[in-house]
Amino acid sequence: MNTFLLSALRCPFCSGKFTATKGDEQLDNWEYAVLRCYCMRYPVVAGIPIIRKGVLGAKGESTRTVCQFIESGKNQEALLAMTMPPEPASAELAPAWLQQLPQVKGMGRIRSSVGRVAIPQWIEYAQKFLAAGPQGKTAKDYLEFHFLHSGMKKEQYNYYMNRFGQPRHLVALSLMTLIESPRKPVLDFGCGFGHLTCHLPRRVGHQPIIGADRDFIRLYIAKNLLAPDALYVCCDGDDSLPFIDAFFSVTFSSDTLYMVNNKAVCSKEIQRVTDSTGLIVVAGIRNGLVEPQNYRTMPYHTYGELFDPLPHRILANTDVLNRYVNKCGPALTRSSEKQTLDSEPWFSIVATKREELLIDRGPFADWPHAEGQLELNPLYKPVGDHGNGTLYRHTFPSIWYEQEDGDCRKYEPGSVSISSQILKDLSSRNRTADMEDLIAQCVIVGIPDRFH
Ligand SMILES: C[S@@+](CC[C@H](N)C(=O)[O-])C[C@H]1O[C@@H](n2cnc3c(N)ncnc32)[C@H](O)[C@@H]1O
Ligand SMILES: [Zn+2]
Repeated sequence: MNTFLLSALRCPFCSGKFTATKGDEQLDNWEYAVLRCYCMRYPVVAGIPIIRKGVLGAKGESTRTVCQFIESGKNQEALLAMTMPPEPASAELAPAWLQQLPQVKGMGRIRSSVGRVAIPQWIEYAQKFLAAGPQGKTAKDYLEFHFLHSGMKKEQYNYYMNRFGQPRHLVALSLMTLIESPRKPVLDFGCGFGHLTCHLPRRVGHQPIIGADRDFIRLYIAKNLLAPDALYVCCDGDDSLPFIDAFFSVTFSSDTLYMVNNKAVCSKEIQRVTDSTGLIVVAGIRNGLVEPQNYRTMPYHTYGELFDPLPHRILANTDVLNRYVNKCGPALTRSSEKQTLDSEPWFSIVATKREELLIDRGPFADWPHAEGQLELNPLYKPVGDHGNGTLYRHTFPSIWYEQEDGDCRKYEPGSVSISSQILKDLSSRNRTADMEDLIAQCVIVGIPDRFH
């Protein structure tokens, strides 16, 4: 948190600007502080302002409680309030052998009472892990912690662990190339762990990047591990956004708008905080016309109306992806064909008054997914030796993953042999001509340094 970020913010409820009433010694770097407006006090925890009302922590800690921790110098308590996951149900902590016994009458009670004894140990372990902070840790350590110890769903874990060559990721990267030398800062709304935020600095140049999400722990991981070059704000897109009008030249958002309950407010707010001559890129929206319809989303044309009267294009993700695999940016002269959009599960929107931006884009100078440290796509598992190399097989982590992201098989081969020289070059971070085909197929992808 610094004075620049403070200048971007306003209260979503009274529109007031903030003054920082309590910070640590360095005036330009408030890691822990309290922001005051006309109506509220909001905490800044680990450098991230939390502009949300009500319950923030898993144990019911409110905005007020977290502010009180900071005002009384209990910064560690404030951090734990924001990062500790909810305690698991005691039955889940029963030993593995007890979990495996058949589900007979009374078994649930036995598991609960045996598991209850493990709760203090679970709390001690979780507090120790989180209080130690991100030093020496990777994003994978946090993802595993949340998957193994705090009820993160397996499908979510799979999604975040295998994001780097996913069709939706490539579409978002393709649309991100539309960002060219913005005159003002750039917002990544719903930035999550920062899987895409980490690609923004290359597009944005010297302008500041602000990542916003309602989930504090994701921002904490983005800030400390995956995308440390951005600033972060914890806020809820169901309310008015906590930024002043027209602060950003670009608002980028991927895989988020369809999840927000108040889509009308959120889309209007995105337009309010983006300069009238700016660019809005909303990548990865689930189309309510297509099964499975359990996404609480809407038909693609309804999202289009949310951005009226701003000139915009609605692009079927397959259209963007088909160009991407040919190393080509998106075609923006017109929206995708109605027939394609009617049956397309994922689509994206690009909106801007600057119609000169809405043109068909040419080839990428380099593959956007090759940015970062080049590594084997984690979907490839070694299955044996092959000549002077290793044979890898493409493996989906689950049936759901295959159903949702199976389009990756359009460009990722079922199996591939990789020479020991390429494996050596990868580990010494040496990009060679021999890797280019594998990069084009997303067998080799760029991964942020502290991902794993
Ligand atoms: C599927 S993730 C996408 C993360 C990231 N943009 C990416 O593409 O990797 C969706 C993110 O949206 C955030 N989100 C959902 N609803 C939100 C809301 N109402 N306000 C702010 N963030 C929200 C979630 O916390 C989550 O981090
Ligand atoms: Zn206020």
